[in-house]
Amino acid sequence: MARYKPQDFYFKKAKRQKYVARSVYKLEEIQKKYKIIKPGSRVLDLGCAPGSWLQYAEEKVGPKGIVVGVDQKELKREFGPRVYFLKEDVYELDPSRLKQYVPVFDVVLSDMAPATTGIGFVDSTRSVYLAERALEIAIAVLKKGGFFLCKVFEGEDFPSFLKKYRGAFERVKIIKPKASRKDSREIYLLGMGKKGQPSWKKEEDTPCQDIQSGAR
Ligand SMILES: C[S@@+](CC[C@H](N)C(=O)[O-])C[C@H]1O[C@@H](n2cnc3c(N)ncnc32)[C@H](O)[C@@H]1O
Repeated sequence: MARYKPQDFYFKKAKRQKYVARSVYKLEEIQKKYKIIKPGSRVLDLGCAPGSWLQYAEEKVGPKGIVVGVDQKELKREFGPRVYFLKEDVYELDPSRLKQYVPVFDVVLSDMAPATTGIGFVDSTRSVYLAERALEIAIAVLKKGGFFLCKVFEGEDFPSFLKKYRGAFERVKIIKPKASRKDSREIYLLGMGKKGQPSWKKEEDTPCQDIQSGAR
C-alpha cells in the first residue's frame, strides 16, 4: 500500500489555492498562531522566490501595508503595487538600501535555504551562515518590538546561533510547522519583541531605479 506523503497534500493544496510554493503553509500556520503580520505591516521577506510567502504577506498587509522581497533568483509571478522586489544576494545587500521603501520594518521573514549537498553538516553550516546574515539584516531594519521569523537547519553551529538570536529578542520560539517535511532538518525561529531601535548604517540610499514591483 502506498505510504501517505504529507508533501503531496500541501503541494496539491498550493496548486489548488494558486500559491507558487507549498512553503506558504508553514508561514500560514505560524501566522495563525502568533499573528505576526497585521493589516498595514511593513514586511521584509528574505529569500522570497518563487514567491508564496510574498503572496501570503501581500494578502495579510492589505492596501496600507508594504512588502519588500529579496532573492538572488527571479519571482514566478507578478505582484500588486504594494510589493517590491530586489534581485540580490543577501551577502551583497547593504541594509541601508532598504530605506528607499520604508523607514523601518515591523516584520522580517527569512525562508532562505542554501543549495543543498545532501551532506548534513555542510548544509546546516551553510544554512546557519544564511540565517546569521538574515539576523544581521533584521537587527539593522526592524523596529523596536518587531518580529523576525527565520528558517535554519539544525546542526552543530545552531546552538551558538540561537544564543545570538535570543540576545536580540525578548522571546524566541522554536517551531517545526506541520507542512515542514518530517525528514528535513529545518526549523523556524520566531523572535518576538526586537530589543533596541534599528541599527541602519549611515550610508546614502541607492536610487529608486533598482525597484521592480508588480505594478511598475
Ligand atoms: C525555500 S526558497 C524560499 C521559498 C519562499 N519562501 C516562497 O514561499 O516562495 C529559498 C530561497 O532562498 C534563496 N536564497 C538562498 N541563498 C540566498 C542568498 N544568498 N541571497 C538571496 N537569496 C538566497 C534561494 O534563491 C531561494 O529562492
